[in-house]
Amino acid sequence: MRCDLIIRDATVFDGTGKPRFQADIGVTGDRIVAVGDLSASTADREVIATGKAIAPGFIDAHTHDDRAVLCGPACMLCKMSQGVTTVVVGNCGISLSPVRMKSRPVPPLDLLGDESWFAFDSFGEYADRLARDPSPVNTYALIGHMSLRVEAMNGDTQRAATDKEAEHMRQRLAAALAEGASGFSTGLYYPPNGMAPTQEVIAVAEALRKAGGIYVTHMRDEANDVMLSIEETLKIGRDTGSPVVISHHKCAMPENFGRSAETLPAIDRASLRQKVDFDVYPYPAGSTVLMPFRLRPDVKVQLTWSVPHPEMAGKMLSDIARGWNTSEKDAAERLLPAGAIYFQMEEDDVQKIMAHRLSMIGSDGLPHDSYPHPRLWGTFPRVLGHYARDLGLFSLETAVHKMTGHTAEVFGMTDRGVIKAGACADLVLFDPATVKDASTYDAPTKVSEGIVETWVNGRSTYAYGKGATAERAGRLVTRNK
Ligand code: ZN
Ligand code: CU
Repeated sequence: MRCDLIIRDATVFDGTGKPRFQADIGVTGDRIVAVGDLSASTADREVIATGKAIAPGFIDAHTHDDRAVLCGPACMLCKMSQGVTTVVVGNCGISLSPVRMKSRPVPPLDLLGDESWFAFDSFGEYADRLARDPSPVNTYALIGHMSLRVEAMNGDTQRAATDKEAEHMRQRLAAALAEGASGFSTGLYYPPNGMAPTQEVIAVAEALRKAGGIYVTHMRDEANDVMLSIEETLKIGRDTGSPVVISHHKCAMPENFGRSAETLPAIDRASLRQKVDFDVYPYPAGSTVLMPFRLRPDVKVQLTWSVPHPEMAGKMLSDIARGWNTSEKDAAERLLPAGAIYFQMEEDDVQKIMAHRLSMIGSDGLPHDSYPHPRLWGTFPRVLGHYARDLGLFSLETAVHKMTGHTAEVFGMTDRGVIKAGACADLVLFDPATVKDASTYDAPTKVSEGIVETWVNGRSTYAYGKGATAERAGRLVTRNK
């Protein structure tokens, strides 16, 4: 047999969680064509991978890359250098389509940029742009509740939607699902989305039933009322006949540390009755827009960007306030619009959530922040290196499964997330002995160690030491129903 590419003598982590094995992998076009002993075959390019691991390309289960995937290879280096080959965009209720904006979007929509980026009146227009100007990674898209609300309620979102507005949102969501979006996301935690009662969400999410879409949520509360929020999420899933994903599951704020001992068994019990999974990032700090009303003395805050004070990015809010001789709340008001890192979780909860059988790895990285949370550049190597290899939290097989096969199964990505003949040739070659995240809260944009090369649909998109290639082999991936 003659292949385009053969990767020889690799240790294969096939994405299913099954034990590693030695094999050669043959790729022709955009597909894996053979896995096994290919010593009788030749290829245009042969990679000797002795001592290295090959895995399905990682799927970033939770991103805000809606705009980054439109910006070419340089914008996606943060992900390709981690071995990521597919990103799930449109999380936390925030998506670039289907809405056109004339003035600066209200937070947290502005995580994706100013109004000039919200220029897609339908998901079809967004998908066309991606097809014309492809990303180096595959894109799987959710439609955000907040984007739908701004459009349907004409910007007047500080209230519940009327039945008519909810019906308009449902129709817009249904149209987007027909045009290649795969699900619906909410960010009920954020004002003004918190004004939406459960019934509004259910009315809009009803569009998922016929389309076979998935419901993904940044829940109303991840702190004191986390259990109520899990109940609400499960109810929305049941009432619309949809599988649900709890975004970046956490137990936030010091008084809730340790409560993964309550949340995880509850999710476990629910999983016997309905389809529920969750994503998690491997850090005890979160990041989003800066919200002065959420500041607390016992949660440290680091600034990630500020429109009026870009020079303050990277500094601790307490230091900025001291320098300005004012309170943290007042300093935060002056920095708006802005983004921040919140040190609001406990390491032990993060580990228990990550180790749970239903978890998927998602970075929740914010690609347009000037001083981003290190998860943007470090999530996947951190799980492989720090958590699996160094701490032994779980096996490398399990780590890879949480980034590939499990994620593909949850989101319904056919032929991805596994290494087998016939699957799409999304692959990552890495060194299990050296793989390691390099980004920190002080130096957040460092390329990870040990990720040797990344392929998307059979094309090489990244090589360590060389950086991103010019390949734009990514496609829109849709949910298999
Ligand atoms: Zn979120
Ligand atoms: Cu998010």
